[in-house]
Amino acid sequence: SAGVADAGLFLHGVAHAGQQIRNGDALILTQQDHIAAVEDARFRHCPMKNSWNLLLVNRSNPLPENYEYNLRSLKNGECIDVRIYSELVEMIETAEKQNVFMFVNWGFRSAKLQQLLFDSEVLIRKNRGLSDEEALAETKKYVAAVGASEHETGLAVDLDPIKPKSIGADIYKWLADNSYKFGFILRYPENKTEITGFSYEPWHFRYVGKEAAKQIFDKGICL
Ligand code: DAL
Ligand code: ZN
Repeated sequence: SAGVADAGLFLHGVAHAGQQIRNGDALILTQQDHIAAVEDARFRHCPMKNSWNLLLVNRSNPLPENYEYNLRSLKNGECIDVRIYSELVEMIETAEKQNVFMFVNWGFRSAKLQQLLFDSEVLIRKNRGLSDEEALAETKKYVAAVGASEHETGLAVDLDPIKPKSIGADIYKWLADNSYKFGFILRYPENKTEITGFSYEPWHFRYVGKEAAKQIFDKGICL
């Protein structure tokens, strides 16, 4: 539908999961809304000088009030914290040299975009026949509430394969084995769902810096 096509840029994370958003189902955030939100955030600077890379954001630790960052956009328009840009690009380019092709499907999300995504995912599940309660509970396993998503920090990315050159399994394996070398960790491992509070997400990587990433990788621990 036209609505879905217009919103494609912003709902691609949803659509990519193989789900259909029927016309009129979802709230649509316009491109202008998104650009305005990104612009709004782009020129701020982070006040946490020392451990910005270890910031913990989850259900119990929402994004600090007045959290500030400086965003930089990738070639495809997705934005990430400027401080992770070079290592992220280096990781993607290194993978490419090894014939593993990936792109950032989701980088930074404004609060508005996170809300939109959450609401859309609830609607999708309701349309599948789940009750309001079930839809909400199911969505919470996969999508963080506003203020509780790492994507709102600009320090997390969802990486997807560039098809047909690569498939999901290839890039997820490469990332699981190599991302720590570039300062990124698999944020929601399969055996840590009790701790993280989220289902296994082989595509979601969080920048913590090379030192912390190596420790987390070597010890098999999580944030
Ligand atoms: N899908 C991850 C948990 C998020 O919404 O931040
Ligand atoms: Zn993610």
